[in-house]
Amino acid sequence: MSKEPGVRKMFDAIAHRYDLMNRVMTMGQDQRWRKFVVKTAGDPGDGWTLDLATGTGDIAALMTATHPAAKVMGGDFSLNMLTEAKKRFTDRRIVWHACDANRLPFGDGTFYSVTFGYLLRNVDDAGRVLREVCRVLRPGGRVVCLDTTPPAKNILYPFVRGYLRYGIPALGRLIADDEAAYSYLTGSTMEFYKAEELAALFAESGFTDVGYRKFMCGTIGVHWGQKP
Ligand SMILES: C[S@@+](CC[C@H](N)C(=O)[O-])C[C@H]1O[C@@H](n2cnc3c(N)ncnc32)[C@H](O)[C@@H]1O
Repeated sequence: MSKEPGVRKMFDAIAHRYDLMNRVMTMGQDQRWRKFVVKTAGDPGDGWTLDLATGTGDIAALMTATHPAAKVMGGDFSLNMLTEAKKRFTDRRIVWHACDANRLPFGDGTFYSVTFGYLLRNVDDAGRVLREVCRVLRPGGRVVCLDTTPPAKNILYPFVRGYLRYGIPALGRLIADDEAAYSYLTGSTMEFYKAEELAALFAESGFTDVGYRKFMCGTIGVHWGQKP
């Protein structure tokens, strides 16, 4: 059974508290990772770039702030998340668009780059989404993906696991009044691809020059690749 209708409902429900919860649970680090995503995607000049699963729009807004000539499409399937994005950022260089990452309503080779934050953990078939992203990129275009990563079993593991298992759901209850949504975040992180496995999936899905960097005690990964 597909988990995606439930994911959409969940983001519709937490949209109004999403940003505050992000800042608190990452201890204010989340924007730093998004800036790294934008830098890694490169300068699109005056071309189009797609921020998929844009949510409340942070990566899309950082893209226009960093590259003033760029035209940015912010796409998401949660209408409530897009409503928050539109309220927060009124910049006319960003076009907000309801769309599903599995079936992108854009032609082949449309975008200079495609970014997404915290998308792949939420879809049924990450390989399918990556192939769809590859289709809409122009040759030479870059994909950059930010997501959580299962923590490595090192000396920090008990602390990191404790924070994921108990700290984040408790914050979800206090701040977003939705413990279940943030327990889902923990569960989907623990079950998600390890960083090296996700890099292999990027390569299998048609990307070259694949690489990644980890942040926050290895619980956050940024992966990138290029369409040949
Ligand atoms: C955790 S939020 C991330 C928002 C934003 N990228 C950020 O950096 O904060 C995940 C977003 O992915 C969207 N999403 C999940 N599955 C999707 C799909 N199949 N198609 C489009 N958007 C999707 C959700 O609606 C949600 O807004």
